[in-house]
Amino acid sequence: MTRLPVFADVDTGVDDAMALAYLLGSADAQVVGIASTAGNVPVDQVCANNLGLLALCNTSDIPVSRGAERPLATPLRTAEDTHGPEGLGYARLPDATASLTQYDAATAWVRAAREHPGELIGLVTGPMTNLALAMRLEPSLPRLLRRLVIMGGAFDYRGNTTPVAEWNISVDPESGSEVFAVWSAAWGLDEPTHLPMILGLNLTERVVMTPAILSRLAASAGSATTPMSVLDDRGSRSAASNPLIRVLEDAMRFYFEFHFDQGEGYVAHLHDPLAAAVALDPELVRYRQATIDVELTGTLTRGMTVADWRGHWGRYPNAHIGSEVDADAFFDRFIARVGPFAATLD
Ligand code: RIB
Ligand code: CA
Repeated sequence: MTRLPVFADVDTGVDDAMALAYLLGSADAQVVGIASTAGNVPVDQVCANNLGLLALCNTSDIPVSRGAERPLATPLRTAEDTHGPEGLGYARLPDATASLTQYDAATAWVRAAREHPGELIGLVTGPMTNLALAMRLEPSLPRLLRRLVIMGGAFDYRGNTTPVAEWNISVDPESGSEVFAVWSAAWGLDEPTHLPMILGLNLTERVVMTPAILSRLAASAGSATTPMSVLDDRGSRSAASNPLIRVLEDAMRFYFEFHFDQGEGYVAHLHDPLAAAVALDPELVRYRQATIDVELTGTLTRGMTVADWRGHWGRYPNAHIGSEVDADAFFDRFIARVGPFAATLD
């Protein structure tokens, strides 16, 4: 099977970790680099989470790079309330067995693109800070990538960080605006085949992890476990026998509790794993093409992603916006890949 080279830019957090597990468990993917972006937690914690997850997965040959400490134009905001004090809920990862690269995340983007010209698939599941810095470093970066998939924004849909803004964009709106403006222009404004695929909350909130689905994952890994329930004591630790399932369950429990406290039920939206699956197979999702941009100066609306579906702005489309997904098909694929991968770690 041909393995697709993937560069993952993550702000590891709970669902970013699930996305990395999906990529590591996918026989058709070769993760050629990981950029650690400040977002859910500060950049050094993201680095530790990425290195610890790779150690847990007995994977030490994927270079992990450290990104900028803050967004392009504002101080960093983090989300420990959502992802836990260290970004992975109640989970504890093993110590790193590898070190960070000597070069930063923006340089890592450019190195990976030059090593896999025309073949590299870019995946961004955090703020676009380091992608924007990479595009400044190498203006031809867009033309070196085969595909770019971004989890971010909310299109004709409410935000999760402000009434109108989604977290990844809200943390660094300037980087999102810069990437959306520059990426398509690098290809030539009338070249729609290379537009980035943008998966916003309007799509990713249809992918709802539940304790029952998580139990299916444990079973697929051949791992004994105890199905989770909202009636469990908060902070109860996983009894899973498999080390990766145990970490994912302890991470997800914090995420379930957060969503429950938000009034959304004892569930969790799997934003980033969906983006990882789409990076490998864009046909999992249907799209609508539009011109998008990010509000930067609105008192109430800063960080809002705006889609011009009807051409009011007179600008060429610059994005394929995810509009439909079969969530059951996604979970079947997630379980079919992550479960057996976890079993190899027993
Ligand atoms: O809004 C959801 C996104 O913000 C996800 O990528 C999650 O990990 C957080 O980074
Ligand atoms: Ca993320």
